[in-house]
Amino acid sequence: MASTNPDNVQTANSFSVLFVCLGNICRSPAAEGVFRYLVKERSLDSKFYIDSAGTINYHEGGPADPRMRAAAKGRGVEITSISRPIRPSDFRDFDLILAMDKQNREDILEAFERWRHRETLPADADKKVRLMCSYCKKHDETEVPDPYYGGPQGFEKVLDLLEDACESLLESIVAEDSRILDS
Ligand code: 4NP
Repeated sequence: MASTNPDNVQTANSFSVLFVCLGNICRSPAAEGVFRYLVKERSLDSKFYIDSAGTINYHEGGPADPRMRAAAKGRGVEITSISRPIRPSDFRDFDLILAMDKQNREDILEAFERWRHRETLPADADKKVRLMCSYCKKHDETEVPDPYYGGPQGFEKVLDLLEDACESLLESIVAEDSRILDS
């Protein structure tokens, strides 16, 4: 019987992706929304487990920034995620952890170094951490810039970069991962 994943439930067969920024109210919820949109468009919902998190807990329990939600909605993308900080189990639970900027990546790796001594975590979980823009094909930027203190064009720029990165991220997973290929 084909497996289904209607509620974004993690299964042994799902490929799991965690998007991470600072506050988990602008960039990573938008990345989660854009990636979820593309996955759904290709009817691959049952194969993926998708989430986002922040490196700080300041906005924990709150919805995404209304400016980010409005900009995404303008492109047909719903952002529904609730902010949460990254946690030790993320290094076990996710196949890929995508940092929006270099500071995020450094903070994620520092958290891993702290946690790996008191939790049972995969020794090589640091290899799961990549920069989001490393997947960009149409843009030269190396980081997704923080739009929080800027104007509306900053939120559009974030979405431009995320659409580019998410498209090739999905392409690369579909091309390389046996869980997607074999089912
Ligand atoms: P994000 O943006 O990391 O893309 O969610 C920010 C959200 C909140 C803050 C900074 C950036 N803040 O300073 O509270």
